[in-house]
Amino acid sequence: MGEIVIPLKVGAVGGTLDANPAASLGLAITGTKSARDLALLMAAVGLAQNFAALRALVSSGIQKGHMKLHARSVAAAAGAPEADFEKVVSRLIDSGEVKGWKAREILDQLAATQANQEAPMGTAAGKVILFGEHAAVYGRHALAVPVVDAVNASVQSSSGGTSLAIPAWGVARNLNHENATGIDAAIGLILKRLEQPLVDYAIHVDSALPPGMGLGSSAAIAVAVTRAFCHYLDIDINDDRVNEIAFDCEKLAHGTPSGVDNTISTYAKPMLFRNEGALQIQSLTLQEAPPLLIASSHETGLTSEQVAGVRRRYGRSPARYDAIFDEIDELSLAGAELLQARNYDELGLLMNICHGLLNAIEVSTPQLEHIVALARQAGAAGAKLTGAGGGGSVVALCPTDSHRVEEALQQAGYRVMVLK
Ligand code: MEV
Repeated sequence: MGEIVIPLKVGAVGGTLDANPAASLGLAITGTKSARDLALLMAAVGLAQNFAALRALVSSGIQKGHMKLHARSVAAAAGAPEADFEKVVSRLIDSGEVKGWKAREILDQLAATQANQEAPMGTAAGKVILFGEHAAVYGRHALAVPVVDAVNASVQSSSGGTSLAIPAWGVARNLNHENATGIDAAIGLILKRLEQPLVDYAIHVDSALPPGMGLGSSAAIAVAVTRAFCHYLDIDINDDRVNEIAFDCEKLAHGTPSGVDNTISTYAKPMLFRNEGALQIQSLTLQEAPPLLIASSHETGLTSEQVAGVRRRYGRSPARYDAIFDEIDELSLAGAELLQARNYDELGLLMNICHGLLNAIEVSTPQLEHIVALARQAGAAGAKLTGAGGGGSVVALCPTDSHRVEEALQQAGYRVMVLK
């Protein structure tokens, strides 16, 4: 119940009203007979609107609706063509920068992507580890599913140095081959492995994976760029060789990788993985995409740091850490059976146990714990951090209530992706 007292000076007859057909139509529709009726009606509508605004503020957020409207006018002012209009609007909102310059930048990116669609392409998957992160580095099994077609790369010759553009990450630079690190070093290594000279190339990468979020972006870029170079240079290469090259790139990135990221990125299949000196992979046939949501925290996690931290602690207590890794190994093996049998309740339970063990080896963070708790409270059958941790993402299994979980996480300000 609410009340409003508001001074209103309105008229229902005379003046310009007779000259304005919309005014008499309004009076006819509302059945208003007098200025007093009209004032009461206006106040009642105003009151209802205030209530609606209060409700929006405490629920889905008035901001969301306003932002969308604002983004549409910014996109229109930047000259977004009809075909790309909705794409520009949603990218503007996602970026958090609903500004003219951002709209123009997005339009440039779309144009570059269209131009690159004609260029030779390499594709790679991202990955979501369900069980076995960290334990995989110590020869135990890991179970992972791919995020298919997550990264696309293209290569063209250019003049004036080798350049790298990853518009989704705001990367556009010339590579410095001398003291290269990170992706720049990986690109040099890829060319070396392909026995190609370092001449000038323009490398363009479209990534649906955010960096440092535990979803395998660095391995996926290595796989996609290797394939793009092979395509462009007409080099015949099989998946096993692509995987070896990407594994070498992963070694550059974090020293002692198990190879799970590059392997799933190359073969893009759900798989049970093990690297105990020799690579063993068993791909799984699933009857459906498992109902998984991936929520990103606001912190990135550096795999090299997390792997090094676990190694330090392993050194202090090898027997205890081995026992934890053995337990995770069993969860991976049992998880593979449950995943194929679509026994999601039991699978969720195992994911929760695995998260506890990852917390025990100190790779969780307060924010990851918060996301896990929110997802479980909203009805997820299981939720755990995925990837190296120290930030990054949580994977939640939601055979029922998936919308509730998605909404709860979004309302808490986390970005959610539904695995397809
Ligand atoms: C990173 O995605 C997974 C880790 O187990 C590292 C690796 O297996 O190389 C943390």
